[in-house]
Amino acid sequence: MEKKQNIFLIGFMGTGKSTIARELQKKLGCACVEMDQRIVKEQGMPIAAIFEKYGELHFRNLETELLKKIGDEDGAVVSCGGGVVLRDENIERMKRSGCVVLLTAQPETIFERVRHSKERPVLNGNMNVEYIGGLMEKRKERYEAAADITIATDNKSAAKICDEITERLQERNKEGVKEEK
Ligand code: S3P
Repeated sequence: MEKKQNIFLIGFMGTGKSTIARELQKKLGCACVEMDQRIVKEQGMPIAAIFEKYGELHFRNLETELLKKIGDEDGAVVSCGGGVVLRDENIERMKRSGCVVLLTAQPETIFERVRHSKERPVLNGNMNVEYIGGLMEKRKERYEAAADITIATDNKSAAKICDEITERLQERNKEGVKEEK
């Protein structure tokens, strides 16, 4: 039987990847993988502690290893860590095993969503709109290069975002993307 495509949700911190992944799981009745949560569980320590104790490179290696395992999943929705697009090999792997959906939001929206988080070491000491906007700008090209579908999330409910995603996925399948591969 043909393997079902995975759906990879990518985007900057606070674009709603985890929330939308859970909603899509309910809507589509598929499995859901939350990459950060899985790493926390497997390592037995929070993301911030992994960064502090072993450094960012170690965390990025764990992320890449986990993506390799997820590539074997079948029809799962995957909420990726915001930095997953920083490595070409991660992008290639996601594209091979599914469809990549980019969630976007304005820096002000992101700030409101993450301002009280203690679990975003990348924003440690820089929790402000200017820094968020600057980092988003730096990563923009990578997010856009990885995305098959892009959905803006500002001022939209989770249900509306999920509807948009499923519509776009259907359109994409109709266009015969799978056959072209
Ligand atoms: C990161 C995003 C985080 C987490 C880690 C690094 C990043 O995930 O993986 O703190 O570099 O953008 P979320 O996007 O789920 O917050």
